[in-house]
Amino acid sequence: MVFDIELIRKVYGSFAARVEQARKVKGTSLTLAEKILYAHLYDASDAKAFRRGVDYVNFRPDRVAMQDATAQMALLQFMNAGRDRSAVPASVHCDHLIQADRGAASDVSTANDSNREVYDFLKSVANRYGLGFWKAGAGIIHQVVLENYAFPGGMMIGTDSHTPNAGGLGMVAIGVGGADAVDVMAGMPWELKMPKIIGVKLTGRLSGWASPKDVILKLAGILTVKGGTNAILEYFGDGAASLSATGKATICNMGAEVGATTSLFAYDESMARYLRATGREEVAALADGIAGSLRADAETAAEPEKYYDRVIEIDLSSLEPYINGPFTPDAAHTISEFGAWVREKGIPQRMEVGLIGSCTNSSYQDLSRAASVARQAAAKKLETKAKLLINPGSEQVRYTAERDGILQSLLEAGGTVMANACGPCIGQWARHEPDNTRPNSIVTSFNRNFAKRADGNPNTHAFVASPELVMALTIAGDLTFNPMKDTLQNAAGQSVMLDEPKGDELPASGFDVKDNGYVAPDPHASGEVAIAAGSNRLQRLEPFAAWDGNDFTDLRLLIKASGKCTTDHISMAGPWLRFRGHLENISDNLLMGAVNKFNGQTNSVLNTLDGSYDGVSSVAKKYKAKGIGSIVVAEENYGEGSSREHAALEPRFLNVKVVLVKSFARIHETNLKKQGMLALTFADPADYDRIREDDRIEVTGLKTFAPGSRMTVTLRHSDGTSESFEANHTYNEQQIKWFKAGAALNC
Ligand code: F3S
Repeated sequence: MVFDIELIRKVYGSFAARVEQARKVKGTSLTLAEKILYAHLYDASDAKAFRRGVDYVNFRPDRVAMQDATAQMALLQFMNAGRDRSAVPASVHCDHLIQADRGAASDVSTANDSNREVYDFLKSVANRYGLGFWKAGAGIIHQVVLENYAFPGGMMIGTDSHTPNAGGLGMVAIGVGGADAVDVMAGMPWELKMPKIIGVKLTGRLSGWASPKDVILKLAGILTVKGGTNAILEYFGDGAASLSATGKATICNMGAEVGATTSLFAYDESMARYLRATGREEVAALADGIAGSLRADAETAAEPEKYYDRVIEIDLSSLEPYINGPFTPDAAHTISEFGAWVREKGIPQRMEVGLIGSCTNSSYQDLSRAASVARQAAAKKLETKAKLLINPGSEQVRYTAERDGILQSLLEAGGTVMANACGPCIGQWARHEPDNTRPNSIVTSFNRNFAKRADGNPNTHAFVASPELVMALTIAGDLTFNPMKDTLQNAAGQSVMLDEPKGDELPASGFDVKDNGYVAPDPHASGEVAIAAGSNRLQRLEPFAAWDGNDFTDLRLLIKASGKCTTDHISMAGPWLRFRGHLENISDNLLMGAVNKFNGQTNSVLNTLDGSYDGVSSVAKKYKAKGIGSIVVAEENYGEGSSREHAALEPRFLNVKVVLVKSFARIHETNLKKQGMLALTFADPADYDRIREDDRIEVTGLKTFAPGSRMTVTLRHSDGTSESFEANHTYNEQQIKWFKAGAALNC
């Protein structure tokens, strides 16, 4: 048994009493998010009426999950924490480092060779400290967590931004940086600002081509990439109960795309069915025993405006399929408007590759619905016009889908089955294009579509949609095809329509798997974990230096970034993933995707020491070598995207002292604080325009650094003039201690 039933018994044993206590201190009925949060206070006696969006609260998550790219740095940090075992159950998943090239078997074998050192390291750390280890090819972290570990009413953190996927099973699951994972594995409290709660009421039922993915694609259009910041999205209503658990997980997964802290659904019959189908009858029975505590109080649905900070209603019965993109997941288009929009904007109309998979949409139900469309290609004598790649979510899904003929249908429609891994979703795609700058269009069932993310080509227009819609567009090979009303010409010259997709929520004959890829830790392991000297993949961490007690003077502007600056722009993935365990080497990619406001170019910034232009990392290194600190300036929602803590570690390592932006994405702001960086926002965003390329910059106010205090930024221009403005921060007492100590781990 992979999951820990004793843990679940323990959580449920006190759950109802903790909920009752919360009701008392709050004096109101409770949302589900509140019930779970209060049931996981680090110290139950601390319970009080926490103010949402204001109070920082200490929590005790039940478990931790880490994927291989982020686990390396998290575990390197954990090894310095002086523990013999992880304080909570935790797991490591090898899913990000497998390149999608020739097909599953050969790609996993290549990954095992090329990543041997990293996999051996992760496996030996997991074994040494009592963590579960899922080897390469076992599956994508969030699908594996959903199948094995997630449970209604639980709380977990994961070092990946799509950790909220587990909300599909009613869990508060939050994406964090590795330093947070270390805190929890070390048995320390995990701090989070009490989130606001946005209620999303779902009414009606899905039908036809509409799918759970379309709920979140529509919502992304409403909320935009920032609209869920510091909030939990809590779904309720009859429509919510009509969705499968994996469909709910898809919706929760992509809550990350609107910046939400997490997303969740109440425990219901579909979750019980999924738990039973995945061998967790005992968990379903235990959840049934406290079912009343695993949903919001009835009053919240009757008067949602009173209990939620905002309420959004979506009618599933009238929901149309959506297709979002390119370059941002909140650019929402209904399928009926999309074709005209593509033509009007001059987007490449030829649809070149359809990609089905990712942690978002690779469940058995997803694959079976896509296969029902794929089967129609042969039945209706249609040629599949675009390439098709499939990454199943887990070996259990893959094995079962193969047994049930689902994979065969996708193969017969021209598909290639890649490893059960992230693959193209994280830039691990050997696309074999002679010109990797050619404008082209692809459609994926993934969650993200930032420029260059899938194949490194800045001119690939990537759109996200449901797997069944990806399949239909792949057959058509035309971005403007609307399967709900358009016909296709078949080999016999007839005009044919695709029938609506059909699929099975769960396999009729149950799930099956031969080798699920799990390696249990040795309960008696001890000793040191070895890291080869001179390795270019792994490097032991040296603690960062404490703050020297002085204000920052004579900082140089490293870059003033223009427009979107996601964690992909700050610390690119793709080939760089191989250096995730080696801070010095990966720091060479610092901010190489960010656009320099002054020249419109990427990775070309002024070196004020000699007036030349060079890559961001090289200039930072030159400043560092001379003992000069630097500052990064950027615009809105800086660090949106993933929980990638390298995006905070790299600037810290290269002596960047301050990141000053118009606004931050939540996880990234916390990551900066944890690594001892100064994260500031402009009091007046218009001050962004005052900063010149060759300014010398001072940041003062550090000696009186306190919650709610302000910093003063002074710009000394090269023409001899100077000007000052105010900047805000959101550090609390504890976080100020991290800054002063040089990093949270130093405290
Ligand atoms: Fe992997 Fe992409 Fe999900 S990188 S964890 S499949 S968002």
